[in-house]
Amino acid sequence: MSALVIGGGGEGIGRAISRAFAAAGAAVAVADVDPDRAHDAVHELTESGARAVPLVGDVRSRSDLDGFVTRTVGEFGRLDTLVTVVGGQVAFVPAVRLHEMGDEDWDLAYEMNLRYVVRAAQAAIRAFLSQGGGGSIVSVGSVAGVMAAPMQAGYGAAKAGLASLAKTVAAEYAGDGIRMNVVACGAIATAAANSARRTARVPEIPMGRIGVPDDAAAAAVYLASPLASYMTGQSLVVDGGVTVRGPFPT
Ligand SMILES: NC(=O)c1ccc[n+]([C@@H]2O[C@H](COP(=O)([O-])OP(=O)(O)OC[C@H]3O[C@@H](n4cnc5c(N)ncnc54)[C@H](O)[C@@H]3O)[C@@H](O)[C@H]2O)c1
Repeated sequence: MSALVIGGGGEGIGRAISRAFAAAGAAVAVADVDPDRAHDAVHELTESGARAVPLVGDVRSRSDLDGFVTRTVGEFGRLDTLVTVVGGQVAFVPAVRLHEMGDEDWDLAYEMNLRYVVRAAQAAIRAFLSQGGGGSIVSVGSVAGVMAAPMQAGYGAAKAGLASLAKTVAAEYAGDGIRMNVVACGAIATAAANSARRTARVPEIPMGRIGVPDDAAAAAVYLASPLASYMTGQSLVVDGGVTVRGPFPT
């Protein structure tokens, strides 16, 4: 089994996903714009006995995305799973109300959270179809795409778009054995996330804790695995219960 993890060098969810796929026995291509992160992650995986290769490129480039897929197939013989991790709000776009949001910020949120996923999915699907035997796509989404996303409209709309994309891929390619699902994360403790803001939100979380990157990684590995072979077009929410709690605490 081989997996291409785009954003897999990250210190948070990306790295946890790369690690979890390797632990599940996959050969892992770690794609990242930051060469040090890609190489560090691969070093860690190979030290643990896994097969892994670093791929450096930018998700804003279609040719880099095509290259990620081609090089994964070249290294490992086939691609079984594409995972898209790159994304976010704070890192890319200022938090403002909708009427204050400029076109450039909207476009950036779309570009970093949805457009590249479409392009990566296209490249992966072409590889899946040409090699035969199906394949799986897992995209890291957010509860910001499930609920309202105050001060982050572009991010929320883009993450909501992932759910639609997964449904369409599911419907168009089910007959080819190709599945696509989303892991919709709630607050996950990562270096990129503002820890003070996160801690302040703990009382809103029924489970009483911020998630950890391994919570998201476990869901990603599950969705890609044969255990989820009858699941496609779904969003699996990993949020400690935030989206199911009513407005009145019990
Ligand atoms: N942390 C949270 O609370 C939270 C909540 C909901 C959803 N998410 C989602 O989780 C995902 C990962 O978030 P994270 O903060 O854990 O990040 P992460 O630590 O997994 O890092 C992501 C990686 O993406 C890489 N990257 C950034 N721009 C790139 C580009 N242009 N091309 C290629 N690689 C690039 C970075 O170098 C980094 O290594 C995002 O999609 C985010 O929206 C996070």
